[in-house]
Amino acid sequence: MQSQVTTSTLIKMKQQGKKIAALTAYDFPFARMLDQAGIDTVLVGDSLGMVVQGKENTLPVTMDEMLYHTAMVSRGCARALVVGDMPFMSYQGSLDEAVKNAGRFLKEAGAAAVKLEGGADVCPVITALVKSGIPVQAHIGLTPQSVHQMGGFKVQRDEERLIKDAKDVEAAGAFSVVLEGIPSAISEKITHALKIPTIGIGAGPHCDGQILVLHDMLGINDRFLPKFVKKYADLAAAAGKGVADYIAEVQQGSFPSDEYEYK
Ligand code: KIV
Repeated sequence: MQSQVTTSTLIKMKQQGKKIAALTAYDFPFARMLDQAGIDTVLVGDSLGMVVQGKENTLPVTMDEMLYHTAMVSRGCARALVVGDMPFMSYQGSLDEAVKNAGRFLKEAGAAAVKLEGGADVCPVITALVKSGIPVQAHIGLTPQSVHQMGGFKVQRDEERLIKDAKDVEAAGAFSVVLEGIPSAISEKITHALKIPTIGIGAGPHCDGQILVLHDMLGINDRFLPKFVKKYADLAAAAGKGVADYIAEVQQGSFPSDEYEYK
């Protein structure tokens, strides 16, 4: 078996020019499948609010829900680095509360790191977590927890602010940074300006790695898909056909046939 991926592995991959492959996962069977396929890092994203719970955005997701899903994913990953996503209002209140909540991802749910959204504004939180021994992945650009402040899920184009946010989160101690919804030319500049790896989603090809939401790229989520999502499979169609065949066979009485019967 290949050795366990750590935060240092990801930094080394950037230094060696090796691209990092990341995906989200929310439960044991998918986490195990991604791990066995050779994924480098699995994010238990609060996107689960939308693609698993069917909500309009990520804001209602709770700490308990995140811990429940992160524990399942951790059990499925032998090699990949598991990152737990800190939900809205779990790190914005006070530094003490942020450290306590982030610590639960490592202590109770088996994650090796946490992710949180924001640039310069969240640097004191990043520093406090890192000082407590909790590795932090930052997330800048289109930050879904700020959907109301941004006036929707919009591509972020303020180059000066994005570059400053990226440098600030690196200086605060983040081991990597997710760049979401950023024009390729800006992501390229950020990637060259940082020593820590950039993981892009809707941020073009120049990032050190890429991440997609699993249910989007496997075609499980049949709701709106943004321009940057490539569908690598159509699991909803395959599963729908399986279920329709089962219903038809039950209705016709052809399932169970002899081979599925106890004699
Ligand atoms: O919640 C999530 O899945 C994320 C990724 C889209 C980066 O934050």
